Amino acid sequence: MHNINKVKMLEFPQRGDERGHLVIVEGGIDIPFNIARAFYIYGSDADVVRGQHANRNSEFVLINVAGKSKVKVKDGEGNEAIFCLNRPHTGVYLPTMVWKDMYDFSEDSVLLCLSSEHYDPNEYIRSYEEFVEEIKKNNQDG
Ligand code: TYD
Repeated sequence: MHNINKVKMLEFPQRGDERGHLVIVEGGIDIPFNIARAFYIYGSDADVVRGQHANRNSEFVLINVAGKSKVKVKDGEGNEAIFCLNRPHTGVYLPTMVWKDMYDFSEDSVLLCLSSEHYDPNEYIRSYEEFVEEIKKNNQDG
C-alpha cells in the first residue's frame, strides 16, 4: 500500500461541559503512535506555504487547535490529496514518506503538530526531486 493511502482524518474524544471544551489526544490511543515531540505553528500569513518536505522516519498528526489551515499531501507519483483542518477535535494523520504542504492559514491559526520522533534534520527530505527519486528507489527495492 502506498503511504498516501494511510493518510486519514482523526476525530478525538470531546469531554466538554458547561465550563468549556476539552479535547483529549493520548499517544498510542487517539494518536496512532507514541508522541515524542510536539510543536506548533502560528502567525503564518495566508500566502505562506510551510512544510514542503517529506520525512523518512517521522509520523505526524496535525491539529488546528485554533483557526484553519489546509494540508496537501503528495505521493511523489502524481497523486495528491487536500485536507482542511478547521475543528479543534479533528486532526490529520501523516505517515512517513509523504510530501506535505501546509497553507491557507487563517490569521488565528494555531497548528499543533505531534510527531512520533524527536527532531532529526537528517530524516527530512526538503527537495521534491530527491523525494521522487527515493520513492522510485523504494518501489524498486520492494
Ligand atoms: P521547518 O521544518 O522548516 O518548519 P515547517 O515544517 O513548519 O515548515 O522548521 C523551521 C526551523 O525550525 C528549521 O530550522 C528547523 C527547526 N526545527 C527544529 O529545530 N525542531 C523541530 O522540531 C522543527 C519542526 C523545526
